[in-house]
Amino acid sequence: MSETYVHGYHPRENERLQAQAGTLVDLLHSDTSYPSGSVVLEAACGVGSQTVTLAQRSPDARFTSIDISAASLAEAKRATDAAGLTNVQFQQADIFALPFAPESFDHVFVCFVLEHLSRPVEALAILNGLIRPGGTMTVIEGDHGSTYFYPDTSAARRAILCLVELQRLAGGNALIGRQLYPLMIEAGLEAVRVSPRMVYVDSSRPELVDGFTRKTFTAMIEGVRESALEARITDPEAFDAGVRDLHRTAEVDGVFCYTFFKGVGEKRRRV
Ligand SMILES: C[S@@+](CC[C@H](N)C(=O)[O-])C[C@H]1O[C@@H](n2cnc3c(N)ncnc32)[C@H](O)[C@@H]1O
Repeated sequence: MSETYVHGYHPRENERLQAQAGTLVDLLHSDTSYPSGSVVLEAACGVGSQTVTLAQRSPDARFTSIDISAASLAEAKRATDAAGLTNVQFQQADIFALPFAPESFDHVFVCFVLEHLSRPVEALAILNGLIRPGGTMTVIEGDHGSTYFYPDTSAARRAILCLVELQRLAGGNALIGRQLYPLMIEAGLEAVRVSPRMVYVDSSRPELVDGFTRKTFTAMIEGVRESALEARITDPEAFDAGVRDLHRTAEVDGVFCYTFFKGVGEKRRRV
């Protein structure tokens, strides 16, 4: 990988990605299914958090799921095997050096990847080159600037900004969701449609309080504590106070909001 992957590859991060995927299945995937016989590339599948849902929702499509990390691919294979899926094959590869022929896929799916790349348009353009004319690309990204919550505290907001800053220092962009439309257009996709997918959490939705506020978002911020201290962009007291305040939003009177962005575009048809 050309840039440092800010979340790392630790077991706790794998669990966080799985919690995120499990909680967000309907919000993010309810309108993603591929026709029988489709050949689909999942770019940067990680530990397979989306792969299982994709392959289950489109049992008659064939998926090739790639990632640069062999350890993540092994985890992803375990996840699809455990789910009894036989329509996914995994391959270790770099998005910027993919071993596939032009126009060899009907569809491409990319989730939570562009935010970690310093050249997101180049990545999308490469992937667009692999889609047959008339095929589609689906891209999902978050945007940490879309986070707001009650009780609101500056300590919590500063802790979130630590992750935004770390990702920037690593060459990525944690605020990329809002840019999906222009990025996809610049990469050459047509008929691009972006839809915001908002997660709204209060204590009447206990599964989201646990699955999203605690185990997805707050866990993600907690996960960069050591890196933020090493980079000297915070101090232990300030960071820990911010994380405590984020946990506070998961209490009975707390509220948490976050918006994901899902874009679908078409590969230009031949004239
Ligand atoms: C946040 S994870 C997302 C994984 C998965 N798509 C999901 O939604 O759970 C980002 C993944 O991108 C992979 N990655 C980063 N740069 C890559 C590159 N140049 N080529 C292939 N994979 C890459 C990392 O190894 C990591 O597994």
